[in-house]
Amino acid sequence: MTELARRTEHWLPDLRAALRGLYGERAAAVEAQLLTAIGADERTRSAVLAERDLARELAPDWFQQPGRIGYIAYADRFGGTLKGVAKRVPYLRELGVDVLHLMSVLRPRAGEDDGGYAIDDYRDVAPSLGTLDDLRTLIHTMHDAGLNLVLDLVMNHTSDGHAWAQAAMAGDEEALAHYLTYPDAALPAAFDATLPEVFPDLAPGNFTFVEQLDRWVWTTFNRFQWDLNWSNPTVLVEMSRNVLFLADLGVDVLRLDAVAFTGKRMGTNCQSQPAAHLVAQALRAVLGIGAPATILLAEAIVAPGDLVPYLGRHERERRECDLAYHNQLMVLGWSMLAEGRTTLARTALERMPAPPQRTGWLTYVRCHDDIGWAIDDTDAATVGGDGQGHRDFLSAFYRGDFPMSFAEGEPFGVNLVTGDERTCGGTAALCGISQALRGGDGAALDLGVRRLLALYGLAFGWGGIPMIYMGDEVAHADDTAYRSDPERAHDNRWRQRPHLDDAAVARRHQAGSVESRVWQGVRRLAAARGECPPLHAGGSVRPIWVGDEAVFGWLREHPRHGKLVGLLNATPLTRTLASDALPELSTAAASTVTDVLDPLDASVRSGRAFSLQPYQVRWLTAESELATSPVSAPAPA
Ligand code: GLC
Repeated sequence: MTELARRTEHWLPDLRAALRGLYGERAAAVEAQLLTAIGADERTRSAVLAERDLARELAPDWFQQPGRIGYIAYADRFGGTLKGVAKRVPYLRELGVDVLHLMSVLRPRAGEDDGGYAIDDYRDVAPSLGTLDDLRTLIHTMHDAGLNLVLDLVMNHTSDGHAWAQAAMAGDEEALAHYLTYPDAALPAAFDATLPEVFPDLAPGNFTFVEQLDRWVWTTFNRFQWDLNWSNPTVLVEMSRNVLFLADLGVDVLRLDAVAFTGKRMGTNCQSQPAAHLVAQALRAVLGIGAPATILLAEAIVAPGDLVPYLGRHERERRECDLAYHNQLMVLGWSMLAEGRTTLARTALERMPAPPQRTGWLTYVRCHDDIGWAIDDTDAATVGGDGQGHRDFLSAFYRGDFPMSFAEGEPFGVNLVTGDERTCGGTAALCGISQALRGGDGAALDLGVRRLLALYGLAFGWGGIPMIYMGDEVAHADDTAYRSDPERAHDNRWRQRPHLDDAAVARRHQAGSVESRVWQGVRRLAAARGECPPLHAGGSVRPIWVGDEAVFGWLREHPRHGKLVGLLNATPLTRTLASDALPELSTAAASTVTDVLDPLDASVRSGRAFSLQPYQVRWLTAESELATSPVSAPAPA
């Protein structure tokens, strides 16, 4: 039996179930087309990738290894070109990174392109970055250095410059059928009755009248991003070809951009509908058969209850995405710092269902997008609060309009009807570093640095792959240059998308500089992870009560690799915990407890009370667990 035949047998039931759900009686024909695409002669899967396929099938926890550290960057802002990105590989290795999410690599439309999320061609590279060959070379360089590449698969929409959109505007009916379009405003109005707006101020509405078509086009995001019609099987077949093409280049993880929006259903908010999950499940099976070295990351920034299904946890477990952004943890981290209290975070995270053991979270502090304050009303009510009130507090706090606020963010996506307000601003701006630097206030700067490292300490210690947002490792300031660029001025997400500043990067080795403090802190987290088996993503994690509302505690447990108790002091004051506050570690003799982040600190071993400095994070574990439970050797990276 060939490998292909074996994999087909293994994944076919998954593929069939997804296709039946999506296309009913047409499923068999679609299956045949997909299998043809997978087996096509024009595919050029190299021997090296075929070997990677096997290695990863045999060690499917390759992406769950505790040593995995991610980094997210715009290709141009990080390296100028793809060749420039290759030159940054030693920098990433110095930081401990082995997973790189490069944004805005594939060919976008000319002009405004939503930061590269409006794609003209999924099989070509943005000309300003280089060529497809440059991408191939970069991937080789990265793989040789042990780095994995994450690329976006923008799947809710193409740009209006994509060949399908262009052909549709030239009158091609088949091409038109790839999109959701309407001859008049009646159906759009009916959908609009229950649809939220993603960009209420930048791009209001969900539909755009396109004169060349004389039709309304569904455009959830911007007018130039046309939503695909996933109920048309050709969309799935052609996107699968794109997926295989990218996998055959050697892309390790495909980030399913805006996957939640791919299923539309009248009378709903058209997010996280069953069809969106079926599409992800179908793509998962296509990769399982055709390119098992490549896995899927869900970019589903949705309500906490809707998130875990993207990792395949449904009424009956399915194989869907392998990784998903932990948006809740990110939001609750910022919430704890603003409030100095941890009850809401503990309650909300306790209530979240656990993801399947073979999957993992992607944990993060900031990214290129705005922060939506996804505080669940029920969670807030459970702790005696009010969801809307807390969301209002967070947006006011992080725009800097609240007493004692240290943040310098800006409003984004303000919705005058719902009262919703999201926030823009980079990590340093939101943590108080920028404000302190401007005011020349050393004590405030110290607290700002501690806040940044606290949030990263949580993201790195929760389990899953932690992602460093480009520049955070040197406390990068925001960049307001976008305001004089007519294509970007209206979108203040560009604030947190600066070019990597080489001077700041160079200061990482200058003792006493902010850059060096942050760099050392992030480096320490990265190094500690590799030596911390309980952080293997296959374990479980839950918040714990540690006897002090100012301190957030969490417990990671892995059946083979032991336990870790994380602690985060959410306040600028020193807190003291009683030695018996952590019964979770009680199996180990008190004398063996170590703070992995500060192993020389004897106070946690003393068996008496121990303290947490302002915003300090500790990862406590029993020494024996570190020494005696090696994690299985990772597959070749
Ligand atoms: C994702 C991207 C965001 C983009 C949107 C539409 O959320 O992260 O930057 O605007 O998708 O593609």
